[in-house]
Amino acid sequence: MKKTYPPIYYSDYLHLEKLLTSQSTKSDEYGEHAHDELLFIIVHQAYELWFKLIIHELDSVLNMFREDIVDERNIGIAVARLRRVTAIQKLLIEQLNVLETMTPLDFLEFRDFLIPASGFQSVQFRIIENKLGLNIDNRVKLGNKNYYTMVSDEHQKVLIESEKNVSLFDAVDKWLSRIPFLKIDDFDFWEHYKSAVVQIIENEKQIILNNPSFTDEKREKQLKEFENTKDKFEALLDEDKHNDLMKQGLRRLSYTSTLAALFINLYRDEPILHLPFRFLSYLVNVDELFTTWRYKHALMVHRMIGAKVGTGGSSGHHYLMKTAEEHKVFKDLFDLSTYLIPRSSLPELSDEIKIKLGFNYTYKT
Ligand code: HEM
Repeated sequence: MKKTYPPIYYSDYLHLEKLLTSQSTKSDEYGEHAHDELLFIIVHQAYELWFKLIIHELDSVLNMFREDIVDERNIGIAVARLRRVTAIQKLLIEQLNVLETMTPLDFLEFRDFLIPASGFQSVQFRIIENKLGLNIDNRVKLGNKNYYTMVSDEHQKVLIESEKNVSLFDAVDKWLSRIPFLKIDDFDFWEHYKSAVVQIIENEKQIILNNPSFTDEKREKQLKEFENTKDKFEALLDEDKHNDLMKQGLRRLSYTSTLAALFINLYRDEPILHLPFRFLSYLVNVDELFTTWRYKHALMVHRMIGAKVGTGGSSGHHYLMKTAEEHKVFKDLFDLSTYLIPRSSLPELSDEIKIKLGFNYTYKT
């Protein structure tokens, strides 16, 4: 027999009574009504609701990747959840436009009532950063203080705890480092990749040396840049160099994981690698959209408060611009494009490997 459930009323289900009475304007409390303060509160509250959903989606992805063995069947679900996160992020970027219908002069009507509150104290925003895996050592400091010293004691505990949990960065690093197809049977992919790269590097050098339109000065400059690219490739093919870069804080992803991520990127067309490729791409998308939000927020802040300090006490838009530049989590995945080589130069995989990377029922030798 079909189970029955008690009827429910729309506004009870959504707790609208609570939700719609949670906008208390300080300007009215002080008897100095400011029309735009309601907009300001609602936009911030809407952000916090979306942050809650982002955390919910990230938690579900983390649960799939935190285990020692990742059930590969979950990668499609993880991709779908990250896609949802990116759809929310696009909305969050757009939402700043609604707030920007308030002019800097209108903001001044109630800004002083807010001191020292600031979005800087958004605990959910920090939890998202920590869940993604923002490197604690790389956080831009605000007046030499740790970010969590700006929130209540209760919130400090939550944030310190959230730093200890496995982040998406850690989980992805571990997952990538276990991917087995870098050396399959007799085929050592990296040996083949190395010779393809040497060939490409040599071609590039010849192009620079033989370009008749270059002046001597320009040629020298181009050759210098070429040497930089060569160095980067060498670091990729040399574990010790990679580990040195890690020590200097210039790389974060382990050597094996970097190679696995590159392999996935290069051979994304192989059926088994396609979903992992999309997963890695969505991580980059999430990072890029947060960076875009940071820039847009910083620009809005500049426009709104000019060169004043923020209500939270920071150097306003200077601090925010710096976080936009330095708070990327999956920078190593962005950097992978340095090592891509054209499809036509990729080492040909043997039929045996192709079978391993394909859906066997469709692959014909
Ligand atoms: C008139 C609108 C806004 C102004 C003038 C403004 C201003 C600022 C300033 C100056 C800071 C730096 C910290 C400080 O000194 O206070 C900051 C940080 C921050 N704001 Fe806003 N903000 C506005 C709207 C928003 C909105 C709608 C959100 C959405 C939740 C938000 C979220 C944040 C976050 C998360 C930070 C910390 C960023 C970081 O440390 O990387 N802000 N804001």
